[in-house]
Amino acid sequence: MASGQKPLPSRRVFASLLTAGAGMVALTACTPENAVPSPVAANAASGVATPPAAASSVPTTDPVTVTPGTAAPAPSAMPSSAAPSSAVAPQHSLTDPTSPWVVVNKHRPLNPQDFVPADLVQPNVRLAVSGEASLLNSTTAAAAEKMFAAAATEGVVMTLASGYRSYSTQVATYGGYVTSTGQAAADRASARPGHSEHQTGWSFDIGDGGGACSFQPCFAEQPAAVWAKANAHRFGFVVRYPWMFHDTTGYFYESWHLRYIGVEAATDMANRGIATLEEYFGLEAAPDYL
Ligand code: DAL
Ligand code: ZN
Repeated sequence: MASGQKPLPSRRVFASLLTAGAGMVALTACTPENAVPSPVAANAASGVATPPAAASSVPTTDPVTVTPGTAAPAPSAMPSSAAPSSAVAPQHSLTDPTSPWVVVNKHRPLNPQDFVPADLVQPNVRLAVSGEASLLNSTTAAAAEKMFAAAATEGVVMTLASGYRSYSTQVATYGGYVTSTGQAAADRASARPGHSEHQTGWSFDIGDGGGACSFQPCFAEQPAAVWAKANAHRFGFVVRYPWMFHDTTGYFYESWHLRYIGVEAATDMANRGIATLEEYFGLEAAPDYL
């Protein structure tokens, strides 16, 4: 999908979304986001990718490393030994779960499946949860502390509503959705075990301290979500599952789910109007499991 373009919603999609939203009410622990507007292209053959300049996405299978901000040769044109030379940011793997650019979706499970971040910490932010769910990897925690503090200075209350989730926790979370809403609706709202960004430590859900709209569609209109949508990139975050991009991300809009990718990449995406990591990194859409 071209940058900034959004598919027109259908009545069926809206109905499904509302159904999913209803499911979220029952499962508040749910889930319990260059100047050239183009995606980063990846090199499927070499596992190496370089960034933008091409006019359209280049779907690929399993890129490993990406550097934004330089021209994107066609996958077949890039030698396997190629390394970006004029990077504007460090290269990061798209597959290593310790990488801030790891892309986890319905086509790209965590590897290893039982990955546990080695540097989980509890950020010094307002917590709406305790235990495992209050943890983030250390980089994400530091960025979250800055973002929550900045929001607070503007009078916006933001809470950490759900952070790290282990594989076994995701088994329970996803299973709860399936029981409550059925598998089809569950798969639009909750990742199957081994497919959740929450397991990487790079993602978390925000609340606003009130809870009335927590994990529900109406959270998008709450100050915390409005502020995050406008400002999160300044702290390295993207709203990972944007409105009406479920055909790309596989999930309905989650205005509460933020993902750390670094200030430079997040700001680049915001400036270029690129909504999803799939498009930004030139990866195929992942609406459903393979
Ligand atoms: N709600 C997101 C997709 C998750 O379960 O990770
Ligand atoms: Zn989430």
